[in-house]
Amino acid sequence: MSFVVAIDGPGGSGKSTVARRVSELLGWPHLDTGAYYRAAALAVLRAGVDPDDPAAVAAEVGRHEYRQVDGRMLLDGEDVTREIRERHVTGVVSRIAAVPEVRRIMVDLQRRWVAENGGNAVVEGRDIGSVVFPDSPVKVHLTADPSTRAARRAAQMGIGPAEAEAELTARDRIDSTRDVAPLEVATGAEIVDTTHLGVDQVVSRVLDLVDQRRREISSAARDAPSS
Ligand code: DC
Repeated sequence: MSFVVAIDGPGGSGKSTVARRVSELLGWPHLDTGAYYRAAALAVLRAGVDPDDPAAVAAEVGRHEYRQVDGRMLLDGEDVTREIRERHVTGVVSRIAAVPEVRRIMVDLQRRWVAENGGNAVVEGRDIGSVVFPDSPVKVHLTADPSTRAARRAAQMGIGPAEAEAELTARDRIDSTRDVAPLEVATGAEIVDTTHLGVDQVVSRVLDLVDQRRREISSAARDAPSS
């Protein structure tokens, strides 16, 4: 049986740090779905396609191959893990991720990745609990105050807090208002505000939820009449 721990939330909410740590502690693979959209955005930028032309974006994105292997993101076999974090990519990625055909391609790849990696995984993104794996037994939605998120992002990127806040606000607006799979709290998700929590506290909350759900699932299996 597949068991996906879905970790959603906006930039700077602590998603990646928490998802990586939970995956190490469970010994389950980790999938960063944002990296797919970033790789797609890089492909669009390299081709010189207008990010605001959805048909051209969809056609360009469909021409490439995207794979995530051992935490590295590969675009047509080239390791682009570092380049997809650069500011020019971050600046357009939300517009690329708003194109329905791009989402269809990426969601399909993400589902296949989990199936090929054994079915148990920690998956982070914006629409994991709502769209990609709506049946996940554990769904966590991380949030934090805008100023805390901006401070984290600024420290990560080596930029000023005002610039970080402007970038996050612009992406939040596009990610939360797009027509397909907007960033929202999935049904059944536990909201965890990380503003005043350390990484270890958030990680242990997620692990508690995993334990609880595994116990419930195994006791339901024990109680089910055998056929
Ligand atoms: O998590 P991140 O900052 O690397 O994500 C980059 C962008 O990709 C983000 O602005 C929105 C988009 N994204 C998405 O639309 N759906 C996901 N599941 C993950 C990311």
